[in-house]
Amino acid sequence: MILLSPAWTSLLYLAASVCFILALRGLSSPRSARRGNLIGALGAVIAVVTVFLSVRLANIPWILAAIAVGSLVAAPVARRVKMTQMPQLVALFNGVGGGAAALVAFLELDHAPDPWLWLAIVFTLLVGAVSFAGSAVTFAKLQELITTRPILFPGLPVLMAAVLVAAVAAAAVVMATGSTALAVALLVLGLAAGTLLVLPVGGADVPIVISLLNAFTGLAVAASGVVLGNVLLVVAGTLVGASGTILTRAMAAAMGRSVAGILFGAFRGGSTAGSTVVSERPVRSSSPEDVAVLLGYAQHVIIVPGYGLAVAQGQHTAAELAQALEARGITVEFAIHPVAGRMPGHMNVLLAEANVPYESLKEMGEINGEFKTADVALVVGANDVVNPAARTSPGSPIYGMPILEVAAARQVVFLKRSMRPGFAGIENELLYEPQTSLLFGDAKESLAKVLGAVKAL
Ligand code: TAP
Repeated sequence: MILLSPAWTSLLYLAASVCFILALRGLSSPRSARRGNLIGALGAVIAVVTVFLSVRLANIPWILAAIAVGSLVAAPVARRVKMTQMPQLVALFNGVGGGAAALVAFLELDHAPDPWLWLAIVFTLLVGAVSFAGSAVTFAKLQELITTRPILFPGLPVLMAAVLVAAVAAAAVVMATGSTALAVALLVLGLAAGTLLVLPVGGADVPIVISLLNAFTGLAVAASGVVLGNVLLVVAGTLVGASGTILTRAMAAAMGRSVAGILFGAFRGGSTAGSTVVSERPVRSSSPEDVAVLLGYAQHVIIVPGYGLAVAQGQHTAAELAQALEARGITVEFAIHPVAGRMPGHMNVLLAEANVPYESLKEMGEINGEFKTADVALVVGANDVVNPAARTSPGSPIYGMPILEVAAARQVVFLKRSMRPGFAGIENELLYEPQTSLLFGDAKESLAKVLGAVKAL
C-alpha cells in the first residue's frame, strides 16, 4: 500500500539529504562528531521509512528479515570493535555497500530500456564488484589474515591490464545485448580487478586504499540510484564518493605520497618495501624517576602520542600526567601528526575520550616550530611519525612523509616496549641520538609510574 504522495516522498528525501550533509559537517570536528553521526543515522532512518511508505514493495517479510539479520550481526560488532580495529570494520561495511549496489544493478538487467541506464548498470556492476573484492582483501590485510606486505607475482601488471580490457569488452556487450551471462562475467572480472588492485599495496598504505574504495562504493551507489530512479541514492552516493575522494587525497598528502604511487608503487619495486632489521647499537635507557625529574623541572613539554598509546589505552594516564605537570606551572601540549595511529583523527578521538582540552591538541604545522623551545618531547608509543628517515633516506617506505620535529627538542624521551620498529617496519635513528632516552615498558604502565614519580617530587 502506498501512503505517501510523490510530493511528500520528495520532501522527505530532501530532509534525509539535508541530514546527510549536516552529518558530514558535524563529522569535520571532534567536538561535533557524535552529533553529526546521530544526524546521519536519523537521515538513514527517514530514507528507509520513506521507501516503505512510498513504493509498492514485494516480499516485505523477506526485506524485514534481511534488515533484522543485518542489524543483529552489525550492531554487536560495531559496539565491541576496538578503536585500533576500526579501519578493518570500515573496510568490511564499505565492501558490503559496494556488493549491494552491484547486486541491485544485476537485478535491474531486465528493466533497462534506455542506453544511459545500461551505462549506469554496467558501471555499478563493475565498480561495486571492485569495491567489494578490494575491501575484502584490505580487511584480510589489516586483520593480518594475510601478510600486510605488498603481494606481487610476475606478470601481475599484464594480468591487471588484461582483466580491465576484458571488463570493458564485457561491459560493451552487456550494454548492447543485455546478456545475463556476460553480466555475471563482468561481476567476476570486477572481483578480480578489485583483488589485483589491492594485493600489491603495502601495509602502511592500506588505510588510504580503504578510503579510495569507500569513494568507489559511493560512486557505485550513486549509479545504482540512477538505475532505480531514486534521487536520494544519487545524493547519498555522491556525498560518499566526494568525501571519500577528499579523504584519500588528504591522507595521501599527509604521508607525502600520490594516490597513483600508493596503488602502483610496488609494481616499480618502489617505496613500499621496508627493512625490519633492528641493530644492536646501545641506547640510553631511563627509569620512571629519571623521566619524572626531566619533566617535573621543565618549562615546556610536548607529548607526542602514537599508535602504542592507543594499544595500551594510556590516554587517561597521559591526560593525568599533563594535568600534574600543568599544576607545577609547566606548559604542556600534545603534538598531533595527521597519520599517527591507524586511522584519520585517531589521536584526536583518543585524547578527546580522556577529556584533554582541544586547545592543548596542536596540529603538525602549528607545533613543529615549537619543538626548538621545548625542554622535553615525550614520545608515547609513536615511531614512524617522528622518524627522521622520512627526510634523510630516499627509498625508505616513509620517505617524503612530513614528520614531527621532535629532534629539535632539548631532550627526547621515548616510551615503548622494545627496540621494535613502527608500522612501516624501519629503524629510527633518533633512538640512538645523544639527547634521546628510552623508558621501556607498556605505555600505560610507564605513564602511571612517571605520574607517581612526578607527584612525589
Ligand atoms: P608506529 O610507527 O606504528 O609506532 C608505534 C610504536 O608504538 C612502536 O614503536 C611500538 O614499539 C610502540 N608500541 C606498541 N604497543 C605499545 C604499548 N602497548 N606500549 C608502548 N609502546 C607500544 O606508530 P605511529 O608513530 O603512530 O605511526 C603511525 C603509522 O601508521 C605510520 O607508519 C603511518 O603511516 C601508518 N598509517 C596511519 C594511518 C592513519 S590515517 N593514522 C593511515 C595509514 C598508515 P614497541 O613494539 O617496541 O612497543
